[in-house]
Amino acid sequence: MLRVSMSLLFGAAALAADNCTREALKAGADSLIAAQAAGDPSLLKPVTESLIYNENQKPATLKSGILSQALRIDHSRHSLDTTQCATYTELISATGPKQYVLGFQMWWTAGSIAKIDAITTSTGDWAFNATGTLNWASKENWGTIPEDKRDSRAVVQAAADAYCDIFSNKSVVVPWGHPCARLEGGAYTGNGGPNDKCDVGIPSGVSLTNRRYVIDETVGAVDVMLSFAGIPDSHEFRVENGKLRFVHTMTVMTARSSSGGGTGTGKGTGKGKGAGGARGVRRSLGQP
Ligand SMILES: *[C@@H]1O[C@H](CO)[C@@H](O)[C@H](O)[C@H]1NC(C)=O
Ligand SMILES: *[C@@H]1O[C@H](CO)[C@@H](O)[C@H](O)[C@H]1NC(C)=O
Ligand SMILES: *[C@@H]1O[C@H](CO)[C@@H](O)[C@H](O)[C@H]1NC(C)=O
Repeated sequence: MLRVSMSLLFGAAALAADNCTREALKAGADSLIAAQAAGDPSLLKPVTESLIYNENQKPATLKSGILSQALRIDHSRHSLDTTQCATYTELISATGPKQYVLGFQMWWTAGSIAKIDAITTSTGDWAFNATGTLNWASKENWGTIPEDKRDSRAVVQAAADAYCDIFSNKSVVVPWGHPCARLEGGAYTGNGGPNDKCDVGIPSGVSLTNRRYVIDETVGAVDVMLSFAGIPDSHEFRVENGKLRFVHTMTVMTARSSSGGGTGTGKGTGKGKGAGGARGVRRSLGQP
């Protein structure tokens, strides 16, 4: 009896290690939406017992976090990374009592979600306007790219890295697409037309560090969670033919990062810690 259950156990463990399918990842990411809509974290599954949950770069719990608030979900989009066994989900709540734009990276181990990094933006965060986010995001095409036109994971990531690097190094060559549009908090650098540009108002002297990537080459998407001069941030990119097509940013100006804000250069520095310093950094950038 013992022998039988042991072999079943090892059999299941072996299966779990290589069953990171798009279907399984999508089911897990869909359950995140169900949990957020209901304000019930227990609907998120499957999760490990030792789940690590970070919200805006700080350790938190599912119960104390954003998932315990029921939100009207007006828009959602997943990226599924079967190579790393991870997902990224963008959620927009624009028509409920309180507006939110949320980003979730979920990392799987042996068939269950073992780690979540959440970014939560709302009123007071960088250029925040969920109505604007919903408006522009729902007009963009982040659909599946035909196999013969797909970029490799390396190319998709390199485009994102070039964009993130130019904030501190003006010699970096960024593969700007034409058109290309940036959606930041709710502000848009274009109007959805053929002349939209992304290479406007790029600041200098800011380091985008601690980058964590979730890549779905089937849709040319990469989400990069990062520290924007100490500020919790998500930068998501859609890459087409090796070039940037869309950029979505969420920057948590209202968060107090544990290391304090104000680590960048410009007007923002020296303005003290946390939100004040963070706001100064972003303002001094002249974005968008
Ligand atoms: C993987 O396999 C395990 C064990 O069979 C199963 O419980 C789990 O739901 C599967 N899904 C994913 C995403 O790994
Ligand atoms: C938010 O975005 C909507 C849709 O783009 C726009 O009509 C509205 O004026 C914006 N609100 C603010 C405060 O900018
Ligand atoms: C800046 O970017 C250029 C071009 O990619 C590179 O050669 C150079 O080493 C970079 N400088 C620093 C300080 O990283």
